[in-house]
Amino acid sequence: MFSALDKLKIEIYGASHAEKISLFVEGLPKGKKINIQELQEYVDRRKAQKAAFSTARLEGDVIHFASGITEDGTLTGEKLEAYVLNTSQHSNDYNNLVNTPRPGHADYVAKVKYKGEMDMRGGGIFSGRMTLTICILGGIARQLLREYGIDVEAYISSIAGIKSTSYKDKDLTIEEINKANPLFRVLDEEKGAQMMEKISEAKSNMDSVGGTVDCMAFNVPVGLGGPLFEGFEGKLAYAMFAIPAVKGIEFGAGFDISNMKGSTANDSFYYDDNKVVKTYTNHNGGINGGITNGMPITLRVAFKPTPSIAQKQKTINMETKENVELEIKGRHDACIVPRAVVCVESVVEIALLDSLL
Ligand SMILES: Cc1cc2nc3c(=O)[nH]c(=O)nc-3n(C[C@H](O)[C@H](O)[C@H](O)COP(=O)(O)O)c2cc1C
Repeated sequence: MFSALDKLKIEIYGASHAEKISLFVEGLPKGKKINIQELQEYVDRRKAQKAAFSTARLEGDVIHFASGITEDGTLTGEKLEAYVLNTSQHSNDYNNLVNTPRPGHADYVAKVKYKGEMDMRGGGIFSGRMTLTICILGGIARQLLREYGIDVEAYISSIAGIKSTSYKDKDLTIEEINKANPLFRVLDEEKGAQMMEKISEAKSNMDSVGGTVDCMAFNVPVGLGGPLFEGFEGKLAYAMFAIPAVKGIEFGAGFDISNMKGSTANDSFYYDDNKVVKTYTNHNGGINGGITNGMPITLRVAFKPTPSIAQKQKTINMETKENVELEIKGRHDACIVPRAVVCVESVVEIALLDSLL
């Protein structure tokens, strides 16, 4: 269960090579209509593609519903059950990992914690595939947030040190973000091409690269969150770390704010023409004192390079207790970032909906 959420009770079952991956959600509003076709298209943004950055494991990722929603997409108020079938498992690729954990992955900690009683094929429950469930709920939340006029959009702000246009450089609009290629969402095309080159280069060196995803939530009302442990930054951060391979999160100017003077870091208030309170700058990322202030929420998430790389690596054999070398087989993303954009959006959408319900 996602305990930092108040109204939505989420349970996730299944694993990368199990028959299916399932999501159960309680607390969704009864009677609201979801466009299922649109939801599928949203979830498909995280699908593996025939591209250099992507795993060669191509799955259908068709969403099935077992309860909680009618055929025409009306939420019934019952516990929602959604699932996706796994159809392209190559489980033999993982045989050599049973006793020799992949550096950077969850194999070692899972084996110790669960004493080997765990289906770790394909990364098991730690697999990036589990984020399908986050995107299904995120896509539902996205449609429900429209009633509040809220729009959440994420994009790639860097890969392998190549930085592209971000909210830190200029005020971005929803339209500007939406112009970018939905499957490789970079706002500056030239930088996007350079990122692709870096990914291909890493892949041909049997390596991987990481990067950052920025996210903006527009038209968020004043007042979500609270002080201390009630803070909205804390809620977002908690939920964001549900995405595997996330290693950091910044709000607004983030770590750079520590180098600013107070006179720059402070976002000065003004009344705009309609007497709505705004701030001239948004270094605080739309949150003060843990409470949303009405400016867009801006945040940046750091993703590490994909742990499974084809290069030989040092590891241990947990059966023989020897130091050994490991060669990983199997199909892996050379860079997680392009597929993670929609996962980041989803987490923000889930946290916002949970606070608004
Ligand atoms: C969309 C997505 C795809 C991923 N694909 C892979 C992959 O192909 N190979 C891999 O080793 N890790 C992949 N990961 C990352 C691992 O799941 C993650 O690194 C691992 O569970 C350990 O968790 P940690 O990195 O948070 O410590 C992916 C993560 C996401 C979000």
